[in-house]
Amino acid sequence: MNSMSSAAKTVIAENKAKRKLAPGPKRKALGDQLVPMSRDPIEFLLKIAREHPDIATFKLGPQRTFLLSKPEYIEDVLVANDWNYVKGRGLQRARKVLGKGLLTSEGNFHRRQRRLSQPAFHKQRIAAYGAVMAEYAARARDGWKEGETRDIAQEMMQLTLAIVAKTLFDADVQGEAQQIGKALTEVLELFATFSSPLTAFTDKLPTARNRRVKRGKQRLDETIYRIIAEHRAAGEDRGDLLSMLLFAQDAEEGSGGMSDEQLRDEVMTLFLAGHETTANALAWTWYLLSQNPEVEVKMHAEIDKVLGGKLPTFEDVPRLNYTERVFTEAMRLYPPVWLMGRRSVSASKIGGYYVPAKSIVLLSQFVTHTMSAIIWILRNSIPIAGCRKREQAGPSTLTFPSAAARACV
Ligand code: HEM
Repeated sequence: MNSMSSAAKTVIAENKAKRKLAPGPKRKALGDQLVPMSRDPIEFLLKIAREHPDIATFKLGPQRTFLLSKPEYIEDVLVANDWNYVKGRGLQRARKVLGKGLLTSEGNFHRRQRRLSQPAFHKQRIAAYGAVMAEYAARARDGWKEGETRDIAQEMMQLTLAIVAKTLFDADVQGEAQQIGKALTEVLELFATFSSPLTAFTDKLPTARNRRVKRGKQRLDETIYRIIAEHRAAGEDRGDLLSMLLFAQDAEEGSGGMSDEQLRDEVMTLFLAGHETTANALAWTWYLLSQNPEVEVKMHAEIDKVLGGKLPTFEDVPRLNYTERVFTEAMRLYPPVWLMGRRSVSASKIGGYYVPAKSIVLLSQFVTHTMSAIIWILRNSIPIAGCRKREQAGPSTLTFPSAAARACV
C-alpha cells in the first residue's frame, strides 16, 4: 500500500514537473492584472518583462496568458511551431471590420488567399507603387512653407491614406479624403482598446464608440463595394492592387478567383494595415530626426549624393543605405505594430515550460526590442549616462522573424 502510494506520488510529482508553468506575477484579486493591462498595457508588460526577461505567465481575468520576450521563444511560436497557434482575441475581434482578409483568416483559406495575393506584391508592381509614393510625397512637400508648424502625425496619415488609395484601387481620394479619413478613424477605435475577455460582451452594447465603429464600417463598405463594381465593369488591369486581386486565379487548386465579399475583405485589410502602420513609422522617424540633428545632416548628405536632386525610384533604394538604417532604427525604437497575440491550439512547451491549450501568448515588438537593448547594454557594461547613444549603436536589428508564414506582405 505504502509503495503504491509512493509510486503514485512519484507519478504526480513527474506530471507536475512536466506541467511546470513559467514564472510570473501572482494574483491576489481577479482584476489584479486585467486592470493595469487595460489601463496602460506598455507599462504593464514592460514591468513584467523586466522581472521575467525571457518568459512570464499570469492571468488576465480567467485567461491564462504568457508574455514571451526571448527571440528564440518568439521564433518558436511564429515559425517552428506556428501550426499550433492561431490569431489572438484582438485579431479575431477585428473580423467584425476586416472579415476574412489576410490578417484575420486561418489555415487553408489563409494559404489560398496569400497565394492569390502574392502577385500584387511582386517586385515590378512594388516599383510602380514606389513611383506613386515618390510623386505623392513630393506633392505634400511642395504644399509646405518654410517656417510654418505642421502636425506631422496628421500629415503622414493624410499622405499614406492618399498613397494607399491610389496604389490599392487607383483612386484619387482627394474629394472624399475627409469622409474616408473620418470613417477610418472611427473604425480604428475598435483596435485602440485592449481586447480583454470582457470585450466580447462590451462590443455588443449600444455605446457611442460601438455606434461610431459601425458607422465607419458602413461608410468604408459603401466606398469599397462601389470601387470593386467600377473595376469589374471596366474589366481591365489598371495597374493597381485591386486589379491584381480581381484577375487572380487559383491555378494551384483550380478554385477560381475571389468573390466580391473576399475582395472587399482583402481590400479593407490592406487599406487599414497599410495606412496607419506606415504613417506611424514615418511620424516617429521625423520625431527622431528632430532629436538627432547630426543624423539628419548625414541622411540628407546621402540623399543628395545618391539622388542628385531628382525624386527617388525603386532602384535607388538599395543605395540609400544610411537612410534605410535610420528608418529601421525608428521602427526598432517605436514599432508601428507593437503587440501581437496568438492562442495555443493544443498544450505545448516553450523553453521547457508548460503552455496549456487555449492560452493567450503575447509577443511584443516594443517590449522585446527594449529588453534586447537593456540586455545588450548590461552585457557591454555601458555606464547608464551613455545608454541612449550606445543603445542606438547596439542591437540595431529588428528581432521578429521575417520568415514567419504570417509575416507582413
Ligand atoms: C511600417 C509598416 C508596417 C509594419 C510595421 C507592418 C507590420 C506587420 C506585422 C507585425 C504583421 C504580422 C501581424 C501578425 O502576425 O499578427 C503584419 C501583417 C500584415 N501586413 Fe503589415 N506592416 C506594415 C505595412 C503594411 C502595408 C503597407 C501593408 C499593405 C499594403 C501591410 C499588410 C499586411 C497584411 C495583409 C498582413 C497579414 C499577412 C498574413 O497574415 O498573411 N502591412 N504587418
